[in-house]
Amino acid sequence: MNSISRLLVGVGFGVTAMALPSGVQAQAAAPAKPMVMQHTAQGRAQCLMCHGGKMPNIVAAPTSHEGRGVETCMWCHAKDASIQTKDPGPTTHTLQGRDQCLMCHGGTMPNIKAAPAESHKGMENKNCTMCHPAATK
Ligand code: HEC
Ligand code: HEC
Ligand code: HEC
Ligand code: HEC
Repeated sequence: MNSISRLLVGVGFGVTAMALPSGVQAQAAAPAKPMVMQHTAQGRAQCLMCHGGKMPNIVAAPTSHEGRGVETCMWCHAKDASIQTKDPGPTTHTLQGRDQCLMCHGGTMPNIKAAPAESHKGMENKNCTMCHPAATK
């Protein structure tokens, strides 16, 4: 498996085969809206200590989460995460030759939309398609 397909499998974007009119890009489904974490984050920064599947009475992060680091959890589950109120929008192109997202979307390319700096702080290339699933052709 190459690194891109491993990434796609890792984030669990199942792509449903369907007939498309020619010229329309095949698009992976938009990610589901994450539920808001109801408990405080105070003293609970090590999310996977409890949600890693080892605590019998605490719900485990689903298998779709495999490979997600603990630094990613609040990007989706915090009450004030931007994904709670805004639509991330799909990656409108394929990943072929474009896995270095921030090279183009890092704010240094005048004609390409930059990832909003504040809401995207700390995010790396390997994280982008979790929220912006890519076109498959
Ligand atoms: C000390 C243990 C502990 C830690 C650490 C912890 N949680 Fe939780 N979490 C719980 C418990 C207990 C519940 C509520 C009961 C349940 O459903 O398991 C819960 C519920 C949740 C839920 C709701 C699950 C659902 O199905 O509704 C989410 C989302 C969540 N936590 C995310 C996080 C995130 C993100 C972090 C890290 C910032 C975190 N948790 C850290 C114990 C913990
Ligand atoms: C890209 C957004 C995203 C990230 C990042 C993310 N989650 Fe989730 N999480 C979701 C969504 C969406 C669901 C709802 C179930 C699903 O669609 O997989 C969910 C479900 C959960 C649940 C509830 C499972 C259940 O059965 O009720 C827990 C617990 C959880 N996540 C914990 C975590 C932890 C811990 C992390 C960090 C390692 C994390 N999440 C990172 C989006 C995210
Ligand atoms: C070589 C430069 C380049 C790279 C690398 C690149 N993109 Fe793009 N991206 C573009 C351009 C140009 C557009 C707008 C036109 C289009 O859809 O091709 C775009 C469009 C987008 C859009 C739609 C919003 C918009 O700007 O209109 C998203 C989301 C996106 N890219 C995410 C990503 C992600 C995620 C990655 C990495 C997996 C990535 N891009 C890698 C050049 C790039
Ligand atoms: C946890 C989910 C999440 C992750 C991970 C994520 N984004 Fe976003 N992104 C969003 C949301 C939500 C928006 C909507 C605007 C905002 O956040 O202010 C957005 C907006 C954007 C936009 C602006 C599109 C427009 O139309 O102006 C670009 C470009 C973008 N993201 C690129 C990236 C890149 C590149 C990465 C990886 C470094 C990335 N995103 C990672 C959720 C995410």
